[in-house]
Amino acid sequence: MKKVGVFYGPKGGSTEDVAKRIALQFGDSAILIPVSDATAADVNKYDNVIFGVATLGRETWTADVKGDWDLFFPELEKVNTEGKMFAIFGLGDHLTYSNNFVDSMGHVGKVLLGKGATLVGKCPTCDYTYNESEAVIDGQFIGLPVDEIFESEKTDERIKDWTVRLKNRFI
Ligand SMILES: Cc1cc2nc3c(=O)[nH]c(=O)nc-3n(C[C@H](O)[C@H](O)[C@H](O)COP(=O)(O)O)c2cc1C
Repeated sequence: MKKVGVFYGPKGGSTEDVAKRIALQFGDSAILIPVSDATAADVNKYDNVIFGVATLGRETWTADVKGDWDLFFPELEKVNTEGKMFAIFGLGDHLTYSNNFVDSMGHVGKVLLGKGATLVGKCPTCDYTYNESEAVIDGQFIGLPVDEIFESEKTDERIKDWTVRLKNRFI
């Protein structure tokens, strides 16, 4: 398998922790890169790309304080998607934010789909309890939802199952 670039943000919390746990599943093939340090050119170096994003609520997306992903979005628009495989994981909280569960994963996914990207690692909605999510596209989660607040006991198995599927699809 060619190298896997794992681009994640924000740093220092559950998203980074889960990014590290996902990267471990790929051994030496995975390189971890915070989106705060990345440009489109960095993403373009990889044939297999995993994006990790946390959902911090609608208000945060338009607030004056810009998060790592707010700053990275213009770069995402410039990423070359041809001949590459993409996958996304999203941190969220299915109880407190049941109406916006992992929405940010949907925002990232929609940009990639709009650019004609091949997205792998979609997940069935029946594995999760939530009310609404912008990450559900065509009846499936566009990537892997992870809830480290209320379902952390499920994360290891979710990561394992998901990365096994990615290994079968990555180039
Ligand atoms: C202010 C705030 C707003 C949030 N809004 C959402 C949300 O809309 N949807 C969701 O699924 N999770 C939401 N969450 C939960 C976070 O996504 C969750 O805590 C995640 O693990 C944070 O990742 P981090 O530790 O890398 O920052 C919110 C958390 C905070 C603190």
